Amino acid sequence: MELISGFSKLSKEEKIKWIAQQLGDSSDELLEQFSSFWHNDPHQQRVFDEFSENTLTNYYMPFGVVPNVILNGETLAVPMTIEESSVVAAASKAAKFWQSRGGFHSEIISTKKIGQVHFLWKGDYNKMYCIFDEAKEQMLKDTADITKNMRQRGGGILDIELLDMCHLDDNYYQIKATFDTCDSMGANFINSCLEQFAKTLQNWIASNEIFTDEERDITIIMCILSNYTPECLVKTWVECPIEDLGIVDGLDAQTFALKFFKAIEIAKNDVYRATTHNKGIFNGIDAVVLATGNDFRAIEACGHAYAARSGQYRSLSDCSIENGIFKFWLEMPIAVGTVGGLTSLHPLSKRSLEMLGNPSAPKLMQIISALGLAQNFGAIKSLTTTGIQKGHMKMHLLNILRNFEATEKEVKQAVEHFKNNTVSFNSVREFLATIRTHA
Ligand code: MEV
Repeated sequence: MELISGFSKLSKEEKIKWIAQQLGDSSDELLEQFSSFWHNDPHQQRVFDEFSENTLTNYYMPFGVVPNVILNGETLAVPMTIEESSVVAAASKAAKFWQSRGGFHSEIISTKKIGQVHFLWKGDYNKMYCIFDEAKEQMLKDTADITKNMRQRGGGILDIELLDMCHLDDNYYQIKATFDTCDSMGANFINSCLEQFAKTLQNWIASNEIFTDEERDITIIMCILSNYTPECLVKTWVECPIEDLGIVDGLDAQTFALKFFKAIEIAKNDVYRATTHNKGIFNGIDAVVLATGNDFRAIEACGHAYAARSGQYRSLSDCSIENGIFKFWLEMPIAVGTVGGLTSLHPLSKRSLEMLGNPSAPKLMQIISALGLAQNFGAIKSLTTTGIQKGHMKMHLLNILRNFEATEKEVKQAVEHFKNNTVSFNSVREFLATIRTHA
């Protein structure tokens, strides 16, 4: 690829043509392919284009649904956007399994979000600390316009603290603020408040006679929300008497419960397993987060940081077997919104939220964590009984067959054949070659 300046100013067609030219494609093939994925309503396409920059086309992902999710007694059909085969199937199976065993239970532990102003200051910390309430008052006054609507909705700024961080770096301090952003994710709200806090702090120091000339010199490094939200926490669980688990994929209830429990212990103690284990949880979480127009990178980053809060990266889910009761739970931070951002702009996230009964943000936290737990239950159940490949390869087989452009008849024959044979790219190719020569 060559370097180019002014790329962003080109029209969409010009951008695609430039890429095509770089790829040595002079036949408009790329333009045809990319434009075939454009929405047929130009107004709608403009909405998609404007989500990002230098947009060329739309990248399709499957949008599926997991029915029969019973959460706190309510039955839900939960939308999921995910490209990995087996995820929706596994979550659906887990939802069905728990349907007759009380479903998923969930409670919100807290919904606080955090923002920070990081600054350098060569002053007397105790002096600032003693009169920081004054600065705090001023910060609340100066952000009154920004917070007006949020306060009317019952949220706003909960606390503003001054932190001495000099144990980490010379002259390093923080303003750590806590927010309740109600049903919005609140990133813009938090960042706007923080930037105002920084200005207020600078003005307050500059005009306060208690500070010396040297102390009036303050350097704001940055103002930004933290995606680590350990106080935006939800706990979701499933539980039943062990015998109610029944025969699980050939294992009696007691044996299954014990193997399951051990699998969770391993994921709590071994970082290699913990990472894969939590990846499975995020298969469920990210898919709902994406379908509802939320920021899956923020949820992932926070979840992984939370998984390492003890100093070692561990499983996010946990299990107990006590007094004959099997209990499996997931407790983790999930900071999402159900208003603002992409939630109402993307037609499918709007629909997703409608499918979920237009939930509040706390309720969406519960739904998302239920799907994370369902996904995790499905994975551990397979791993400790039949092995993961059985279900996986069945779905994978269909992908491989599609690769070889198998007909419907060939797909049926292959599905039958591979019930008792190992699926691999080569074995499917050979099988198709054999049936095609005999056709
Ligand atoms: C695959 O996407 C996810 C699993 O590896 C999760 C797990 O091992 O628990 C099946």
